[in-house]
Amino acid sequence: KRLLLVNGPNLNLLGTREPDVYGHDTLADVEALVASTAAEAGLDVRAVQSNHEGVLIDAIHAAREDCAGIVINPGAFTHTSIALRDALLAVGLPVAEVHLSNVHAREPFRHHSYVSDIASCVVVGAGVHGYAFAVQQLARQLG
Ligand code: DQA
Repeated sequence: KRLLLVNGPNLNLLGTREPDVYGHDTLADVEALVASTAAEAGLDVRAVQSNHEGVLIDAIHAAREDCAGIVINPGAFTHTSIALRDALLAVGLPVAEVHLSNVHAREPFRHHSYVSDIASCVVVGAGVHGYAFAVQQLARQLG
């Protein structure tokens, strides 16, 4: 089985972007951590990062063909994108939502997520380890 790992806008800058908020690990580190955590559970990973909403939506649609679950950090689209939510609903795969920072301890506009109520698991504020937790939870759920 395969997981789709989706990282949204600005996450390509991980490691240099507001390191006090998001840490020093890079996107490559995150993708490697997800791949190794998934491998321990016998799962493959396809990773996508984009700053463009439509590219993320296309990647989610494609997951319908060959993925069993989706790990997603939608970045700021978390708080704005009904289209991303609808794509996840359309595909119907189990979703684990990850945020590096504790969005609930930040500005009020980060407190609402268009994804959380359709996710089977939400991890916030655990830094890059949150991605590993999300993979482990999806692996458990997928059996
Ligand atoms: C984020 C939190 C979002 O509010 C923000 O827009 C991001 C990153 C996180 O991982 O903590 O880009 O999703």
